[in-house]
Amino acid sequence: AQEHREQWGSRTGFLLAAIGSAVGLGNIWRFPYIAYENGGGAFLVPYLVALLTAGIPLLIMEYTIGHRFRGSAPASFRRLSRPTEALGWWQVAISFVIAVYYGAIVAWGLCYAWFSLRQTWGDDPEAFLYEDFLQVAAAPGGITNYVPGVLWPLVGVWVLVLIVMVLGVRRGIEWANRIFIPLLAVLFTILVVQALFLEGAAVGLDALFAPDWSAITDGSVWVAAYGQIFFSLSIGFGIMITYASYLRRRSDLTGSAMVAGFANSSFEILAGIGVFATLGFMAVASGIPVDEVATSGIGLAFVAFPQIISSLPFGAGLFGVLFFVSLVIAGLTSLISIVQVVVSAVQDRLGMRRVPAALLVGGVIAAVSIALFPTDQGIYLLDAADHFINQYGIVLAGLASVIVVAWVVRRLPMLEAHAAKTSVVALTWWWRITLSVITPVVLGFMMYDSLRAELAQNYEDYPTWFLLTAGWGVAGAALVLGILISLIPWKNLPSEAADADGD
Ligand code: PHE
Ligand code: NA
Repeated sequence: AQEHREQWGSRTGFLLAAIGSAVGLGNIWRFPYIAYENGGGAFLVPYLVALLTAGIPLLIMEYTIGHRFRGSAPASFRRLSRPTEALGWWQVAISFVIAVYYGAIVAWGLCYAWFSLRQTWGDDPEAFLYEDFLQVAAAPGGITNYVPGVLWPLVGVWVLVLIVMVLGVRRGIEWANRIFIPLLAVLFTILVVQALFLEGAAVGLDALFAPDWSAITDGSVWVAAYGQIFFSLSIGFGIMITYASYLRRRSDLTGSAMVAGFANSSFEILAGIGVFATLGFMAVASGIPVDEVATSGIGLAFVAFPQIISSLPFGAGLFGVLFFVSLVIAGLTSLISIVQVVVSAVQDRLGMRRVPAALLVGGVIAAVSIALFPTDQGIYLLDAADHFINQYGIVLAGLASVIVVAWVVRRLPMLEAHAAKTSVVALTWWWRITLSVITPVVLGFMMYDSLRAELAQNYEDYPTWFLLTAGWGVAGAALVLGILISLIPWKNLPSEAADADGD
């Protein structure tokens, strides 16, 4: 028997969950460096333009599709137009891949929060990370070794995620975000304040915000801005469709999209301040220019930050715990949202109840994650999958979905009318222009640009066989699987009328 579709308890609950999904590792370890590398203070111009001309319009499109069709990504697309169901499954496959490796990073963060207390990494954090903690093999190859120090924390992360999924949208996801997002805001603010008191903070902030206005005329800076917005708002792979499908009938869609978009960007700027104040301290303390200490991603969080934490004049343990706990919370709330994309799709597709669907899907994702990542190959797999699934999964699926919605099935006017019914801020012709012209052109150019780089040189100089499997293979499989699954006849999808209270 079909359950009633779950619903958020309140608008705040939905907003917190949407913000929790958007605010992730990208805000903390990606934005600061991207801004620094692409014009510093001047980067804010292309960044804001990208937010207004692609980020928020796409967010509104996804919210409206989810709200109008009240289904997981595949179910919603199918109701939009039968053949577009493949887009939904493609997004589900992408989410599956991301969930599998995102969980591993959260587990590392958990370990590092603990390590911070005694600075377990000693005086060579880089060697500690790769040799002692991850026990990475010398090169990509077959898995020969399991690493218990990563395995158990990863099991813990998946147990926690499974509990949230089983509890469901309101009692699980909404509650987790109601606790975690305010907690994250408090912890991260304390961290930033502590960072601002470090000697050298001003040097770091100067390096980040000093505007290089010549960047404005550089095409690659604009590509970086749109790329960051796209990644940071988690658009293009079904999360926002899924979350919006649990909204009540009368919900302000455009207003919610704006609140979530600006909240995410505010958190990015706050993180930029915190990270660069800290890097400024390191630069001044070691007499090396900021230029040489600035970095992003795994190198920033798990090498540079441990180094800095060890040399702090005061409160090192506190600072480390604040940083890594923030990273874990930001990652966990994003992880929950990606897993829900897959759970809700399977639930709709097989007509399953929430609890068995959550256990089945969560169990499979957790099993794959646990089989692959706490191994001597974990970081190579993670690096390749992350790069290729971002470029040829998220960005490509996002591009395909705007082209299909705007030009192939031509549903923007219909979605616009739907959003207008319940939203405070009305959409105008300019929403249609951004989605039908600006977004496809920019994303198309981004695609061309990254393909060119890919073909010119092997990513990270990894061996070709490895990129063909862990990179192209994984991203291609997501697309092919998406199309194949959409071709299987689907008889028990409740008609839209049965599920939606008309409109
Ligand atoms: N938007 C997230 C961030 O900025 C990234 C993310 C990736 C979120 C995957 C959900 C899923 O970090
Ligand atoms: Na983000």
